[in-house]
Amino acid sequence: MASGRKSGEFVILSGSANRGLAEAVCAELHHPLGQCRTERFPDGEVGVEIEESVRGLQVFLIQPTSPPVNDHVVELMALADACRRASAKHVAAVIPYFGYARADRRKNRRIPIMARAVAELLEASGVDQIAALDLHSPQVEGFFQIPVETLTAMPTLAEALRPGLVNDPVIVAPDLGAAERAAALGEKLGCSVAVLAKRRLSGREVEIKSVIGQVEGRHCLIFDDMISTGGTILKAAEALFEAGCRPEIRVVATHAVFRGEVPRRFRAAGITEILVTDTIDNEAARQPGVSRVSVAPLLAEAVGRLVAGESLKDLL
Ligand code: R5P
Repeated sequence: MASGRKSGEFVILSGSANRGLAEAVCAELHHPLGQCRTERFPDGEVGVEIEESVRGLQVFLIQPTSPPVNDHVVELMALADACRRASAKHVAAVIPYFGYARADRRKNRRIPIMARAVAELLEASGVDQIAALDLHSPQVEGFFQIPVETLTAMPTLAEALRPGLVNDPVIVAPDLGAAERAAALGEKLGCSVAVLAKRRLSGREVEIKSVIGQVEGRHCLIFDDMISTGGTILKAAEALFEAGCRPEIRVVATHAVFRGEVPRRFRAAGITEILVTDTIDNEAARQPGVSRVSVAPLLAEAVGRLVAGESLKDLL
């Protein structure tokens, strides 16, 4: 934890999306989790109440906008609005997983750019600053007018992988968008990199057009920012097996969105190991065969430095 800060100058509040992670961040900082209440009214509306004074204080709202995405976005807006109306000095939203980030461009005419719309909603609700972890694409940062601190779990995942790193694996990016991320992990671990050319046919369907790089006879480790339905990884594994990779494929991703029976389907497809982080509170990510590494120390370090007004550069 960065030095030079006084406890009591800031408040950390958690929405309902991942209270366990917020508690772990507070434990790292030796700082109590602030008191607030979240509820759903019978008609589905979101209610929040901050149960301690935030007047004149720096407030950190920890809330991944994971499924149910819309509820968690609105809850974060409600918390920010409540803080602003309660005279908080500064409101930072710590968003370990930013839902809608994949909606970052218009693939067809007459569709929205939801990542931008959500950014505007958060700003309008009173958020002054964002700290986000492994945003799906760098351009999402540009959708905000307020400062965005972009963090990555890549070094945390790399350290978790290092002890079991045998047989000189090749790090595989399942699509072109993941290539830069895979290259960074490859550099960190001293491994070579391969990239798959993916085309998305629908929200649930993708196809792999080609494998760029040497995977034949190699151990493959697929690295992505998120696993949602698991369709991307399953197609990637299929393409890698077809290209002659070794039978054991490992998968590493920051965000375990896990819609459907992802771990079971991965095991059935010959994926031997799944490593994710705890950005999302998800029962499916606690199943056998799934290892989780916590991003709480990273988020705590980021919060500590923001409180102390210190640079986050070497955390990026
Ligand atoms: C896409 O560009 C993302 O990085 C992920 O590869 C993808 O969105 C994961 O979704 P699913 O698991 O549903 O294929």
